[in-house]
Amino acid sequence: MQYDFDKIIDRSNSNAAKYDERFKKFERDDLIPLWIADMDFETAQPIIDAIKKRADQGIYGYTSRPTSYYESICEWQKRHHNWDIDPKQMSFAPGIVPALSELVREFTEPGDYVLIQTPVYPEFYDVIEAWDGRKVLENQLFEQGGYYTMDFADLEEKLKMRPKLFLFCSPHNPVGRVWKKKELKAMTDLCIRFDVPIVSDEIHSDFLLWGNEHIPTATISKEVASRTISCISSTKTFNLAGLQAASVVFPNKEWKHRFDSFWGALDIHRNNCFSLVAVEAACRYGDEWLKQLIAYLQENMLFVREFCRTEIPEIKVNLPESTYLLWIDCRGLGLDRQALWRFMIEEAKIGLNNGNDFCRSLDGFMRMNVACSRNVLKSAMQQLKEAVVRLRIW
Ligand SMILES: Cc1ncc(COP(=O)(O)O)c(C=O)c1O
Repeated sequence: MQYDFDKIIDRSNSNAAKYDERFKKFERDDLIPLWIADMDFETAQPIIDAIKKRADQGIYGYTSRPTSYYESICEWQKRHHNWDIDPKQMSFAPGIVPALSELVREFTEPGDYVLIQTPVYPEFYDVIEAWDGRKVLENQLFEQGGYYTMDFADLEEKLKMRPKLFLFCSPHNPVGRVWKKKELKAMTDLCIRFDVPIVSDEIHSDFLLWGNEHIPTATISKEVASRTISCISSTKTFNLAGLQAASVVFPNKEWKHRFDSFWGALDIHRNNCFSLVAVEAACRYGDEWLKQLIAYLQENMLFVREFCRTEIPEIKVNLPESTYLLWIDCRGLGLDRQALWRFMIEEAKIGLNNGNDFCRSLDGFMRMNVACSRNVLKSAMQQLKEAVVRLRIW
């Protein structure tokens, strides 16, 4: 089946956070929303069919998870990332962020450091700071010509401070890196040396652009697997975040039991009836949609990069290796932190994520979500260009 990613669907007033929370986020709602990591595309037809079929039954009672659910996720991971997961190692969580938060709560004490590599998904800061006395330890990524790599010397210094946990983002949001084996090896060697467990958030691992290959952290070696907790989910890949279902893969029974006990105490351990059928349909029948989606996202990214190169050279765009998010370098606009934020909202009228949220000490960057129809993106870039033209005259 040929999917039409150009199709524009009116999502306003449909309780889509990306649209209906614009006023809360930007203090106006006439912006083109290119912020929260949510796509404006209809999901794969087999998923829609599975949800409709489930809805048609008309009974939405407590939902039991069949073994085929985790099996379908394991088969997806094997097929796409050559990762063998034993379903017995897997736990349910209502999302990756809730899972990360619980892992920080469970595996650290007040006063402990938790390591992150910034700039990074802002919730990494939040889930650490949410818990009494936990402290963020930052290993900043190293940027050269828009390409980010790990600063291993600094990583070693930070690991010497004995963080209790490392929240690792792979592939990386927002810089778009798909970490190479050599990098994963060097990073995990250091974690082993300093005995720091890794929580590997792999939610973006299916967005593999330009032929990049994702290597799950837990597949680096047996030793790495024994200290890695992996967080995976089909909800980002297939735009199902509203259904709330993620999986966490544990290396041992004890850690899994600690995690499960927490959710058990809250009585949160079941899928809802729609996520159950949607995730399984995605994992079994979603490959073709994903293939077409990636081709479309690549074109969107090339369009934005070329547009900036020719029309707005003050803004530099590097192509990511994964995600549908562009980490755009706006330092050439010469605006300070607050002015850049206001400029995008009030002049360009586009809703982007503020780069400071991803690294509090870094200015001049914004994150742009390009998972929308090309025509919407064209309008957004035109508005941005016109705003920059006015700025040049000031
Ligand atoms: C790195 C990363 N982790 C987690 C999430 C959100 O996960 P969930 O919706 O399952 O809580 C996102 C969403 O953009 C993300 O970029």
